Amino acid sequence: MLTCDTIDHLDKKLTADFSNILEVNGDLDRRLVSFQANKTASEYRWCKYKEGFSSKLINYIFDTISMPNGPILDPFAGAGTTMFVASDRGKPSAGIELLPHSASIIQTRMNLRKCNNQIDIIQGLRDFASERSWTQKGKTIPFQHLRITKGAFSAETQRSLERFRWEVQTLNDDLMRQVLQFACMCVLEKISFTRKDGQYLRWDHRSGRSVRKTAFDKGKIFGFNDAVVDKINEIAFDLESPDNDLFDLPETVAKGSIDLFEGSCLSVLPKLRARSFSGLITSPPYCNRYDYTRTYALELAYLGVGEDALKHLRQTMLTCTVENRFKDDLEAVSGSKKYSDAMNAWQEQELLANIIGFLEQAKVAGELNNSGIPRMVSGYFREMALAIFEFERILKPGAPLVMVNDNVRFHGIHIPVDLILSDIASKAGFDIEKIWVLPKGKGNSSQQMGEHGRSELRKCVYIWKKPSKVPQAKKPMRQVALSM
Ligand SMILES: C[S@@+](CC[C@H](N)C(=O)[O-])C[C@H]1O[C@@H](n2cnc3c(N)ncnc32)[C@H](O)[C@@H]1O
Repeated sequence: MLTCDTIDHLDKKLTADFSNILEVNGDLDRRLVSFQANKTASEYRWCKYKEGFSSKLINYIFDTISMPNGPILDPFAGAGTTMFVASDRGKPSAGIELLPHSASIIQTRMNLRKCNNQIDIIQGLRDFASERSWTQKGKTIPFQHLRITKGAFSAETQRSLERFRWEVQTLNDDLMRQVLQFACMCVLEKISFTRKDGQYLRWDHRSGRSVRKTAFDKGKIFGFNDAVVDKINEIAFDLESPDNDLFDLPETVAKGSIDLFEGSCLSVLPKLRARSFSGLITSPPYCNRYDYTRTYALELAYLGVGEDALKHLRQTMLTCTVENRFKDDLEAVSGSKKYSDAMNAWQEQELLANIIGFLEQAKVAGELNNSGIPRMVSGYFREMALAIFEFERILKPGAPLVMVNDNVRFHGIHIPVDLILSDIASKAGFDIEKIWVLPKGKGNSSQQMGEHGRSELRKCVYIWKKPSKVPQAKKPMRQVALSM
């Protein structure tokens, strides 16, 4: 029978092993490590991407951690913060992103950077916004709702949105169409009866949906026409007057190129060349039940993702929800040697094995509020182990890996994600240089606080490094011919 005490003991032991590495970093705070600091930053503010980290954090990382010359990778690219900051600093970068709405943010910004007629685009955007052609009667492109988005807009809002889509697709210029479609995607939450709330969309009481338990008052719900015009003008404004103060860099620095691979990093990483990246800066989904496919359902529906495709995306994402099933195709994509090394590191992590055992035990006893929790925790670390072994392969010797992640708690058990992943990373061959801990950690949910006390969960930035010199494999003993 596994007890909390066994786990507590193993947690303390692992913490002691890493005691020289854990370091409170007073330069960091929640604002910097989350999207908050991006809310007012030119270009980053176009799309509210709450799960992102700030461009200031990435600048801080570039200023603080030395990286060899060459491209930077973010395998969980989100809205592309790592890549755009790298590009602004003249570094080439690449990202991998699974979800279409995140990919479309990156692609739109990428294409705007590449275009050499920005002045025409800015003028075209302003003209389109002031003419408001979509407010006249005419044809529409219907918004195909998903089951979980039905009723998200008032009839008038939906009509205007569908007219807008039609007018946009009649334009000749590809980039103009892309930017206007993007502007529309960026206002969907604002004009809807919903609010993004992590595990699901919350519905305003005016929506007419039966949402007794979670209904709330969202406050002002914006009309489509004004919201989209404001967004288009904001984009035009930022393109015209970029926020150069954000980076203390001469304007002469040529922007670095950006590449995007769309798909799951678990399938893309094995296809990337070994030792090809000079640094990796990322923030994977946290092991906290946060469901991106529900949170961004409006945007995904807008981009044409149907019910089956949505389910497929949910299962393909890095396991972080209780609905994720075991991914049984990973050995085939990563190759047996890499797979077995990663699986050994995952299975042999003693604290993790005990945590999963404890949660399984609680599930059998009917004590968990959701029986998918043990499978989620196990799947999360299994897939992260595989990703970490791939990271080690594709990084150049001497390249750093910087990761933002949160520790979590389930059924009263603290899961030190930072230490468990760092332990797995050391098995993959990384040097664990530092785990920067934010001065103020993350509180518990009010329900957990009541049940389990008020201890804080660490929010951290890990710094691992691929050693400059790969340890030499022991030479085989020279065979000496024995003369009998
Ligand atoms: C915490 S967010 C990253 C935010 C990003 N750092 C930024 O500043 O915008 C994690 C991202 O990982 C993506 N993701 C989840 N599973 C993935 C997978 N298997 N492959 C690639 N991306 C994935 C999610 O869609 C989400 O955009």
